This record gives sequence, C-alpha cells and structure tokens, in this order.
Amino acid sequence: MTILVTGGAGYIGSHCSLTFLEAGHDIVVLDNLENSSTESLARVGALAGRSVTFEKADVRDTDRVERILRTYNCTAVIHFAGLKVMGDSLNHPLAYYDTNVAGSLSLLSAMSRSGIREIIFSSTAAVYGEPRQLPVPEAHPRQPENPYGRSKLIVEEIIRDLCQSDSSWRAGILRYFNPVGAHASGLIGENPLTPTNNLMPLLSAVAGGRAEKLKVFGNDYDTPDGTGVRDYIHVVDLVEGHLRAYEALFGLEHSDNCFAVNLGTGTGYSVLQMVKAFERASNKQIPYEIVGRRLGDVAACYADTVAAEQTLGWKARFGLEDMCADTWNWVCKNPRGYGGHKNAS
Ligand code: UD1
Repeated sequence: MTILVTGGAGYIGSHCSLTFLEAGHDIVVLDNLENSSTESLARVGALAGRSVTFEKADVRDTDRVERILRTYNCTAVIHFAGLKVMGDSLNHPLAYYDTNVAGSLSLLSAMSRSGIREIIFSSTAAVYGEPRQLPVPEAHPRQPENPYGRSKLIVEEIIRDLCQSDSSWRAGILRYFNPVGAHASGLIGENPLTPTNNLMPLLSAVAGGRAEKLKVFGNDYDTPDGTGVRDYIHVVDLVEGHLRAYEALFGLEHSDNCFAVNLGTGTGYSVLQMVKAFERASNKQIPYEIVGRRLGDVAACYADTVAAEQTLGWKARFGLEDMCADTWNWVCKNPRGYGGHKNAS
C-alpha cells in the first residue's frame, strides 16, 4: 500500500509526508521542485528514520505519472501539487488553470489508466468567495473570486463527476483555511525565501529583522478591532486531518463516495491579535502601520468544523501560541529557509 504524494516536497506536502511515514505508510513523493526543495525531504527522512522515495516529475506529464504509479504499486494519491498565490493568479490565470486544472486532470487520467481510485485533494476556503455566513459551512455557496479559487473549484467538480460516473472511486476534498506554523523540531517549515503576501511569513520577517514593518491592510472592517479576521490552522493539525481523511476513505459507501470538509480551527483571529501573539512568541516588537484595504480581502472568514469532526473524527489541537512559537522556532533555526539547498536534485 504505497501512497503517491504530489507536491510532497512543499510546505504542507513535506509535513504530510512526515505524518504518513510516522503512521507507518509507505509513500513516494512526486514534485517538480518549482517552489520546493529536496532538502525538505532529506529532513523528513531524518525525522521519520527512513529515507523518502522521490521522483522529480510534473503532474502534467501523464505518461510519466502513470509509470510512477505502476512502478511503486501505488494504491492512493494525496494531491498537493499546484500554484497557490491568490494575487498571482489574477495576473497569470493561464498558469493557474494549466498547473492546477490541467495538472489534476492529467493526474486523474494517470490514476484511471492504472486502476487507482482513491484520492485526497488539497482544496481551499477560497472556493467559497466572500462568506455570507459565519462560521462557513461546507454547503455555503461556492463563488470564488479569483482564478486560484476557481481552479480549485473546477477540480473539485471534476472529482465529483468522476465519483458519480464510477462508484469505485473514493475522494476526500479538504478545504484549507489559513495554514501556518511548522514542525516542532524546527527542521521543516514554510520556506521564508519564497515571495509571499501571507501574514505569518511577513510577521516572522519583521520579527527577524528581514523587513522593517508590517503593513496592516485596513482597520475599518466590521470586526472587533477593525482588522481582518481569519482561521489560522497549525500545519501539523492540517496534515493530521489528511491522515484521518485517508482513513475515512475506506469507510465510504459506494453510493456516497466523495466528501468535502473544511480544515480549520473554527476560531478567527484578527491581524492585530496575530501581531500581539507573534510578539509574545518571539519576544520582539513588531512595528506596523495601518494602510488601505487589500483588493480581494474579506472582513472575516472562519470554518464551521462540525463536518470535519463528524466525517473524519478530527479536530485541531494546537492553539495560536503553538502556531506562533513553532513558526518562530523554524525561522530562528533556518533564517535562510532551506537556503543553498534549493532544488538540490
Ligand atoms: C490567502 C488567500 C487564500 C489562500 C491563503 C493561504 C484569498 C482572498 N486569499 O488568504 O486563497 O488559501 O492566503 O495561502 O484568496 N494581512 C495584512 N498585511 C499583510 C498580509 C496580510 O494585514 O502584509 C492581513 C490580510 O488582509 C488578512 C490576513 O492578514 O486579513 C491574512 O492574510 P493572508 O495571510 O494573506 O491570507 P488570506 O488573504 O486570508
């Protein structure tokens, strides 16, 4: 029973690979290393006590993916590979549809050809668009507001159609809220060298002296302190959710062979609460200035977690203090991220 992990060298993929190895599963990581490093896998191997089988490949190369699936006798796929920067997707929609949609189609075709019918798909809360109710339940209308969210929704629909067309497929669609944090060892984390507009890497950049101050995008939202509220979830909790989702696939009935669940904590924190929490964790001051709202941002977004509890028997365990402390630990131990190790093979 070998599981193919696409995008397994990346931020969430590397944590997931470790969790699955620790749970006793055999995995093969497939990654094109466009935004990741084999150094993450070397460290995953060190933490797990066994080396990670790695194939440098692109999910859009259907024949190659099929060969890999057959070579390792894979029985399931966890699919992370994709582009994920919302703002970037507005400027490069074709790249997003190519990597995320065409890439997933290619992977699903390779799975279909090699008789593999089990998939966990990495989706996003961005499929909901602007929340009309809070917390956001899975049945909330799906009206993504950017090509990134749309590309993920299109793949969700493709997977649903596939499951409906053939009851031997089993699929778990996981909609992430805001993944943050790092493994407690400080050996793997989010590579801070990757250009980002996300809050947590910017907080650590300011605390670490790599950026002067944080720009807080708006303090006039309809939230308790006026700044944006989000559902930050520790990456280790997030990948535990994948393990539970993988196990849940085996309990699915043929008549109901696809589920979609939110992975969040259900608790929202504002930007200013995040600043304070990160100051406590790092013992550094984080200067900030309030600037205008960022285009495309919503006031508040946090998950309804009932379905995840019922479907997966899973609930996030880590709180905000752990998320900040583990991020800071990772950044202090790896100020240059995976540094000179980028794309080592
Ligand atoms: C974004 C993407 C989401 C993606 C997620 C994780 C949208 C609208 N957003 O979520 O798809 O899944 O990243 O990669 O699709 N903030 C500041 N200053 C900064 C940066 C952020 O004030 O310099 C604020 C934002 O306005 C927001 C909060 O911090 O209120 C979180 O922002 P961010 O980390 O970028 O995540 P999202 O925008 O929620």
